[in-house]
Amino acid sequence: MKSTVLVTGGAGYIGSHAAKALRQAGHHVVIYDNLSAGHPEAALGAPLIVGDIGDVDAVRRAIRETGATAVMHFAAWLAVSESVTNPAGYYRNNVTGTLGTLEAMAAEGCRHFVFSSTCAVYGEPTEVPLHEGLPTAPINAYGQTKLAIEHALPHFERAYGITSIRLRYFNAAGADPDGELGEDHSPEIHVIPRAFEAAATGAPMSIYGEDYPTPDGTCLRDYIHVTDLADAHVRALAHLEHGGGSASYNAGTESPSSVRDVIDVVERVTGKTINRVSAPRRPGDPAILYASARRIREALGWVPQRAALETIVADAWRWHSSHPHGFASTGD
Ligand SMILES: NC(=O)c1ccc[n+]([C@@H]2O[C@H](COP(=O)([O-])OP(=O)(O)OC[C@H]3O[C@@H](n4cnc5c(N)ncnc54)[C@H](O)[C@@H]3O)[C@@H](O)[C@H]2O)c1
Repeated sequence: MKSTVLVTGGAGYIGSHAAKALRQAGHHVVIYDNLSAGHPEAALGAPLIVGDIGDVDAVRRAIRETGATAVMHFAAWLAVSESVTNPAGYYRNNVTGTLGTLEAMAAEGCRHFVFSSTCAVYGEPTEVPLHEGLPTAPINAYGQTKLAIEHALPHFERAYGITSIRLRYFNAAGADPDGELGEDHSPEIHVIPRAFEAAATGAPMSIYGEDYPTPDGTCLRDYIHVTDLADAHVRALAHLEHGGGSASYNAGTESPSSVRDVIDVVERVTGKTINRVSAPRRPGDPAILYASARRIREALGWVPQRAALETIVADAWRWHSSHPHGFASTGD
């Protein structure tokens, strides 16, 4: 029997894609989002409760009234640099808010939790590919807030029976291949949509560091298609619902691309030239980050289907070019 899933942050980028995948898998979905960064259009007609994850009574009511038996928890703030200047806000939203959601789950007997974690929990890599056996040592407040929740979850399992899968995403990218959903962050912090903006406007695009010890001198990252991430969530939920154990898994392609690779592919896909400008390295940007995804492959049978950078960029461009002003373009 398919369950009812409360998707916190489901009006945001990754949450909306996961909500769509859950519905396609036959689950009932209720989105819970305070719309601080989300878009009601991204709910694609699923029930949307506007509320804050830190409001324990409101989350309890949402779980009780919808009969949700699982929570997929995307709601968070995610700008690393902002987390360094505003740790108070990040701890309040990402830690206190998430603990509020877990407290509500415990009180209402809601027993499965799929959590958006991040490769930022590893900090400066001691080796690559990053695997789950490596030490966790985040170097910014954002990564620390996610690790704090990973550390809290075993206690919530022991005391309240809440089982959880923590998915440590690498660089989420791409868009719904059907063209219904895409990335609409403001300000835009991720490289592919920033490259689209640069391609469209001719504005210069900074490349932060071209002297890294990598083949072309720019940073290497692991871009994972948002639809593949959504599939990982559906599998994580099925695993928990069938009695599978709690775990943390990397979600990446195992195949890194450089910043220069990304810009080259964006130029090919858009047919436009990007005005590249060399800029100094940013503090805290490791040269190479990519995942070992062996554990999630073995445990959940997850294999990314849209892993090629060309596919990721082409899917993202399809949505971006039909929604030049993001979801605000809907109905234009
Ligand atoms: N985008 C990435 O590359 C990436 C990488 C690693 C981890 N993550 C994690 O994935 C999750 C989703 O990221 P995204 O890119 O979809 O972000 P997003 O900003 O598009 O979505 C987050 C959603 O959560 C909502 N939200 C935030 N605080 C809330 C609160 N207190 N109460 C209710 N709703 C709240 C926002 O309105 C938004 O709709 C985040 O937890 C993020 O930390 C993202």
